[in-house]
Amino acid sequence: MNILLLGSGGREHAMAAKIAESKLCNKLFIAPGNAGTTQCGTNIDLKLDNFNQIGKFVIDNNIHMVVVGPEAPLVAGIADYFAQKPELKNIMLIGPSAKGAQLEGSKDFAKLFMQRHGIPTAAYRTFTRDTLKEGQAYLATLQPPYVLKADGLAAGKGVLILDNLKEAKHELQLMLKEAKFGDASSRVVIEQFLSGIELSVFVLTDGKHYKILPSAKDYKRIGEGDTGLNTGGMGSISPVPFADKAFMQKVEHRIVIPTIKGLQKEDIPYKGFIFLGLMAVTAEDGTLDPYVIEYNVRMGDPETESVFPRIKSDIVELFTATWNGNLHQVSLDIDERTAACVMLTAEGYPEKYRKGDVISGLDKVDNSLIFHAGTKTGLSGNIVTNGGRVLCVTTLGSTLPTALLGSLQNAEKIQWKGRYYRHDIGQDLLKRILG
Ligand code: AMP
Ligand code: GLY
Repeated sequence: MNILLLGSGGREHAMAAKIAESKLCNKLFIAPGNAGTTQCGTNIDLKLDNFNQIGKFVIDNNIHMVVVGPEAPLVAGIADYFAQKPELKNIMLIGPSAKGAQLEGSKDFAKLFMQRHGIPTAAYRTFTRDTLKEGQAYLATLQPPYVLKADGLAAGKGVLILDNLKEAKHELQLMLKEAKFGDASSRVVIEQFLSGIELSVFVLTDGKHYKILPSAKDYKRIGEGDTGLNTGGMGSISPVPFADKAFMQKVEHRIVIPTIKGLQKEDIPYKGFIFLGLMAVTAEDGTLDPYVIEYNVRMGDPETESVFPRIKSDIVELFTATWNGNLHQVSLDIDERTAACVMLTAEGYPEKYRKGDVISGLDKVDNSLIFHAGTKTGLSGNIVTNGGRVLCVTTLGSTLPTALLGSLQNAEKIQWKGRYYRHDIGQDLLKRILG
């Protein structure tokens, strides 16, 4: 079949590579893609917010399946757009309806959903411009640190964690009254701070059945030792060693099953990925309990770059079953090895950074996978930087140290002016394993 994948990051390159491997895939198009995705299919310049243009491309090119990488088109209703058009409604679109995408598009919706279905999450309250004073009074009843979250999509920047009450009250005012995060902060969720270790768990669902994909941990801060500004993600490890069988059973029974049953009960069509952003909190008996920090309605980036290489099953077969509602009839086989992904970024990222630097050394990489994120093919055919997160190196190893070593050795071979990467990805997990 012919497949269109929407998106342009490292996540999409990792997905494109897996789709291109499928015996069921005839032609693969990636819109808009990057220099790396051209190795898997044909890049095509479509605007992800222009559903008419996407629909026309699908018809004109006899596309059978559309896989949506990022959240924005889902929150904007691309699945509903396809469902409403007679000529598009039978296209297998992998991604939830706009209603389902509210799990990511509105923190308030997500919190209410979790409350309705008894899913463990931090205690919270939601405030608006009219209830600023109540919000400030509520903050005064909590212990620091204070967690403030813009309700809507804020490009990963809408969460503030503050140690000081005065500052928290002031920031709440800026969010509600002065639109610090634009419309996204016209409502603000204030929630209890959860202390623990974060991890991501991914689920593919047809709305009734589900497959739990491997867990992963990402590294959000720019600096080694988890310091400095937040980024889109500087690396990832899959699986997460502490997410053992007992923990994953809690995730399945306390979170995955109630989430999917909740979607069904509320008649929310959902065929796609659910990304559970979890906090593993130590319980009184010393075991780890999972709490939902956030839902996303897509795969994570850079988690996909360590999770997807571990999927041994045919991903297009899984997507087809997702569309057809018979996901329980296909198997999901996972490579037991550990995947370590190290992201290479442009000088200055996540603040102002340069684009257009020529990348060298890609041909020297061995025994690792390269997934491009912010790259493009320059005028002379060179591959040049075209974003803050430029590309990542993923290595599969029989142990975490061997996977890490492979990625670090190969990362060193790839050069451009000012390229940066963290050398300590996965070290926290290694320390936990070693005690
Ligand atoms: P979110 O966009 O909701 O994932 O939040 C961004 C980051 O803020 C998360 O990845 C966590 O590191 C942190 N965070 C969010 N909510 C909480 C919470 N209730 N307790 C502790 N940390 C949190
Ligand atoms: N890695 C976190 C995200 O994709 O949102």
